[in-house]
Amino acid sequence: MADSASQQEEALGELAIGCTRCSQLAATRTQVVFASGTTNADLMLIGEAPGASEDREGTPFVGASGKLLSGLLAGIGLTREEVYVTNVLKCRPPDNRDPRADEIANCAPFLRSQVELVAPIVVVTLGNFATKLLRQDDTAITAIHGKAALHSFGAMTVWLYPVFHPAAALYRRPNLELLREDFARLPKLLAAGAPKQRATGAPKPKSARAEDGGVPQLDLF
Ligand code: URA
Repeated sequence: MADSASQQEEALGELAIGCTRCSQLAATRTQVVFASGTTNADLMLIGEAPGASEDREGTPFVGASGKLLSGLLAGIGLTREEVYVTNVLKCRPPDNRDPRADEIANCAPFLRSQVELVAPIVVVTLGNFATKLLRQDDTAITAIHGKAALHSFGAMTVWLYPVFHPAAALYRRPNLELLREDFARLPKLLAAGAPKQRATGAPKPKSARAEDGGVPQLDLF
């Protein structure tokens, strides 16, 4: 039987399917790409936005970057089914342009709810967009990749672990080496278990209200 977190996550995904907050993205997407994997995951990975393959298939990281990501996970003994994967944006930006600030802000309540529902031990941010959003600062990925830091969302504390985006690693060979090295450190971080603060219990997202347009009303990061 599905547990409460997975049921709430499914309901959140249904809300996202109907989301039209970003009028351009809603008009140009084939479908909303919400997440893949399990809400029971100890490891959550957050990318940037769906690309053409993801927009077509409705699943995050199924194109070239996704194949690399699956390989990196396999290298540390994890399958895609054992982790939770999502993106900063749930809709593909036309021509794979960068996510815009207003789109990131529109979509952030979904992501925040996902983090709270999954309540992982480690959140891996893949690339600059996810890293800057979750850290709420402008530090470049080049400066902090592979460095775990405790990060609190309300009452919940997780390890935030920024790494290069797989696309950046496919584009520049030296980044691939760094990405592999950073992934190799993940098992130790996961084995250390949940940071102490999580013992107080993860806050559950407020339920979405009709007057809020069906989108959960949550603080941004
Ligand atoms: N790049 C991303 O950031 N996310 C995807 O789902 C695919 C490619």
